Amino acid sequence: VSRSRPAAVVVLAAGEGTRMVSALPKVLHQLAGRSLLAHAVAAAQDLLPEHLVVVVGHGREAVRQHLALVAPEVIAAEQDEVPGTGRALRCGLAALPPLEGTVVVTYGDVPLLGTQTLDDLVDQHQRSADAVTVLTSRPVDPGAYGRVVRDPTGAVTAIVEVRDASAEQAAIREVNTGVYAFDASFLSGALSRLDKGNAAGEEYLTDVVSIARADGLGVGALLLADPVEAEGVNDRTQLAALGRVLRDRIVGGWMRAGVTVVDPETTWLDVDVELAPDVTLLPGTHLLGRTTVAAGATVGPDTTLLDCTVGGGASVVRSHCVRSDIGEGASVGPFSHLRPGTSLGAEGKIGAFVETKSSQIGAGSKVPHLSYVGDATIGVGTNVGAATVVVNFDGVDKHRTRIGDHVRIGSDTMLVAPLTVGDGAYTAAGSVITEDVPAGAMAVGRARQRIIPGWVARKRAGTASDLAAARATGQRAEGGDQAGPGHQGQAPGSGRTEERDQ
Ligand code: UD1
Ligand code: CA
Repeated sequence: VSRSRPAAVVVLAAGEGTRMVSALPKVLHQLAGRSLLAHAVAAAQDLLPEHLVVVVGHGREAVRQHLALVAPEVIAAEQDEVPGTGRALRCGLAALPPLEGTVVVTYGDVPLLGTQTLDDLVDQHQRSADAVTVLTSRPVDPGAYGRVVRDPTGAVTAIVEVRDASAEQAAIREVNTGVYAFDASFLSGALSRLDKGNAAGEEYLTDVVSIARADGLGVGALLLADPVEAEGVNDRTQLAALGRVLRDRIVGGWMRAGVTVVDPETTWLDVDVELAPDVTLLPGTHLLGRTTVAAGATVGPDTTLLDCTVGGGASVVRSHCVRSDIGEGASVGPFSHLRPGTSLGAEGKIGAFVETKSSQIGAGSKVPHLSYVGDATIGVGTNVGAATVVVNFDGVDKHRTRIGDHVRIGSDTMLVAPLTVGDGAYTAAGSVITEDVPAGAMAVGRARQRIIPGWVARKRAGTASDLAAARATGQRAEGGDQAGPGHQGQAPGSGRTEERDQ
């Protein structure tokens, strides 16, 4: 590396962001699982600056708290009541000792600015003798961006805000991105010379450019290849637009790394997600937080995983899973809800319409249909029959259930916690199990079945059921001529009324 570490990066984030129309400070809105500010801070951190400062103002308490959480090493400096980007930078530098070397300035609401671009900017700045190097761009619509004014030799002489610009200046297509590299000793002097003599009544950081030229110092410019990198978020439409760009970047990166993404436009991946080669993501998949998916696994369609791990070769279909671990070769869904603390062992199964929470389900064990499993530990090779419920809540407290290895829980069993079911035990379908079941035992907890012969003929005479039963048993139904609804095309109800009336 030919360049030296910047002395500081200062991220300006004190602006108000009224167009978001939000109780949340603008820079705390999220893209791909990270706040706008955290995106900017991450890019700054990659430059390995000696100091990293964020200038806070509007929503300062919330922004400070957020920074303490996501980047505790960052210094939060407060802007005073004087408005403007120049003032913001001055307040940021006031939090640091006197600096030598390069100071980089970026914005907290510009989330797509890449580390490579910042690197290039610092590199060009340090190779030159310039006091300032400005990152510029040529967007399709120069809008309200500051215009980059050059002299006939092409040297940058000033940055002029649109509200202060002549018609000729306003027609300039090259604009200021607001990202700069400065020579630190020049900068501190220049900032103290800013005034508010402009249309906005603010201390403009951009005036530092003309100050440099007045002092006979050089001003360089680096033209950004892709203007989107410097786009800021001012409203929620722009937030969504940059979100799509970021999605395409992230998804594109994983496709190049060997992940099959069937429908990139409906696949949303947070920045910290990790995927192995030969993972397949089907349409409508959202992988959030620190989710990781191992080789050969398939996720989707229509699946959300937040902070989950998915083992190699596993499949997760149309499900919603949070803070759960899905083992190698295991399968989940369709239509299941894995709540925090679920772990499913290798080759295990959580099938359709199953909800789980704080439960460990061992290797090869299956909960295939329509069940709730909460606060339970299940061994290996166990099968939990359809519609089983682990009754973990007594109305006041939650209790744990332990189910051993190779257990067979009959369909529709209620397992009332606290409860232990020993290895190899069975429960009868439809049981309410309230006491521990020893290993190898069968537990039956239900009323014995009774048969009341001829009940339908006596109590439901003349109904379709009665007629069907009569046909099956070869007996003539009372009061009927054996012509059921099916024979005369009548609706079931009307047949019954007619026969009653006869
Ligand atoms: C500024 C530039 C303009 C450039 C544009 C790029 C100035 C005078 N103008 O425009 O040339 O094209 O950025 O987006 O610098 N901020 C503070 N404190 C303040 C004001 C702003 O911290 O008092 C922060 C904001 O939070 C934001 C950034 O500075 O992150 C830019 O503020 P914004 O008001 O959007 O920029 P402009 O001044 O309009
Ligand atoms: Ca802006």
